[in-house]
Amino acid sequence: STEELHARAALARKLLGNRLYILGHHYQKDEVIRYADVTGDSLQLSQIAGDQTADFIIFCGVHFMAETADILTTPEQAVLLPDMRAGCSMADMANIDQTERAWLKLQGLFGDSITPLTYVNSTAAIKAFVGRNGGATVTSSNAVEMVQWALGQKERMLFLPDQHLGRNTAVKLGIPLEQMAVWDPIRQKLELQCELDDVKVILWKGHCSVHMNFLPKHVEILREKELDRNILVHPECTYEVVSISDYAGSTKYIIDMIEASEPGSKWAIGTEMNLVNRLISDYPDRDIVSLNPYMCPCLTMNRIDLPHLTWSLEELVEGRVINRITVDQKTADEAVMALKKMM
Ligand code: 13P
Ligand code: SF4
Repeated sequence: STEELHARAALARKLLGNRLYILGHHYQKDEVIRYADVTGDSLQLSQIAGDQTADFIIFCGVHFMAETADILTTPEQAVLLPDMRAGCSMADMANIDQTERAWLKLQGLFGDSITPLTYVNSTAAIKAFVGRNGGATVTSSNAVEMVQWALGQKERMLFLPDQHLGRNTAVKLGIPLEQMAVWDPIRQKLELQCELDDVKVILWKGHCSVHMNFLPKHVEILREKELDRNILVHPECTYEVVSISDYAGSTKYIIDMIEASEPGSKWAIGTEMNLVNRLISDYPDRDIVSLNPYMCPCLTMNRIDLPHLTWSLEELVEGRVINRITVDQKTADEAVMALKKMM
């Protein structure tokens, strides 16, 4: 039963003491979050991982986050992901072969005028690619500063793998939509809306399948019904949604906005279901709904559940380290260059 699993997980957690540290991303289920020593967004958790001295770190989040934690911890520390199927469909939209091929083609078109940036929602191999080509990582909470930095380095930037975060951030900085080209990694083709010379931003054609479920019609329906409901979305939503919402920002920004809001205020939030549900229960005096009435779960985040966490904990108690995430040294060294620029 669930109670039995909770009792087993709690006992194993207690036995492991300070040899273990558990990180929990805001999109995790409540049954998992209650075991987290700290909760945070992906940037906060990477930074916290780097400061830990525990022998074992269980990352309750997705694969790319555990890779980043492994890169930032010592080789003696083991980072574990309770379920190896907890990937990220967005990170999987840019593999290293496609990226190297795209880079060659783009260099052919634009010469040495591009700084690559990658959203942290990418594999360690992509972070390493960016690091060795003079670029940096970004998260949704520092995208504006990082895009500004990249465009201060060279004439253009390539933004991987989320076209929406890239586009929304570039719009915030006043770059016209026509000056943003889209690189299609499947057709290996650049989709242009202006002359080649005028391109400022090259967006990788990737997206988050969760945030794509928030549509302009959801905003329009709410606007018609309730003028006083604030619409707050994550910048992985499309430009069409972000541009008609009231506020857009990272996971941390969304939480901070609700925390700072007035009791009685009305909100519709466009982000992952577990976070929206947690905000609804943590702030009962605010009127909070999901922007999409059907709610939008991230299926891979949700693969980390109580049975998998209990299994990881009990195996560790028995001295077995299961589902360890390791990044090879060369990849880690190059990825660190990109991560350090951001941090
Ligand atoms: P944050 O960087 O806001 O934690 O978002 C991570 C993520 O996966 C969003 O979909
Ligand atoms: Fe990846 Fe989207 Fe899930 Fe975030 S919400 S982990 S970007 S699939």
